[in-house]
Amino acid sequence: MIGLEACTADDLDDFLVLALDPRVTARVGDGAPWDRERAVDRFRRGLACCERGEGLWFLARDRDEVIGLVLGELDHLAEVEIGIWLAPEHWGRGHGRALLGTLLPVVHLRFPGVAPTAYANVDHGASAAMLRAAGFVADGTLTGRYGTEVTRFVLR
Ligand SMILES: CC(C)(COP(=O)(O)OP(=O)(O)OC[C@H]1O[C@@H](n2cnc3c(N)ncnc32)[C@H](O)[C@@H]1OP(=O)(O)O)[C@@H](O)C(=O)NCCC(=O)NCCS
Repeated sequence: MIGLEACTADDLDDFLVLALDPRVTARVGDGAPWDRERAVDRFRRGLACCERGEGLWFLARDRDEVIGLVLGELDHLAEVEIGIWLAPEHWGRGHGRALLGTLLPVVHLRFPGVAPTAYANVDHGASAAMLRAAGFVADGTLTGRYGTEVTRFVLR
């Protein structure tokens, strides 16, 4: 059974398996493969965000196997931006949808009244379908911070 565990510094290697897989990062940020330095920096910033009380990072595990990462981070606009990265061998089995359904109540408890948002590349059908299934609605497209065209989704 898949469970969520709050990330700690000990989870760096598990994070790196996901972040250094170019299939996982192909639709994240600028879509370029990540090198180790970028991945370690992202992990440390994520944990620091959690330590400040501004983020939630969980690894989804099935016993010892890492299924993926789910996260929510407050941004300066007082939104909480949701992210889900699954290991490719677990795509397309409903895990993204199920994990989002598990994450959102935790986000609401931790950040009451703050709107969950997500940004998906305009051609990322799986991400859009997963977000819509969880109740997110598209709120226009914009050029994201990495220069790619993204759809902004908001949970109403
Ligand atoms: C995006 C991601 C989290 C989706 O998770 P998933 O477990 O594969 O998705 P699910 O199996 O829960 O399917 C969710 C929906 O997407 C649809 N879907 C799955 N693969 C699809 C594809 N390749 N194209 C279009 N729709 C797809 C499913 O049919 C489902 O829609 P439905 O609920 O209407 O039936 C996963 O592909 C992933 O981790 N990708 C790499 C990282 C990433 O890009 N994350 C998103 C940006 S933060």
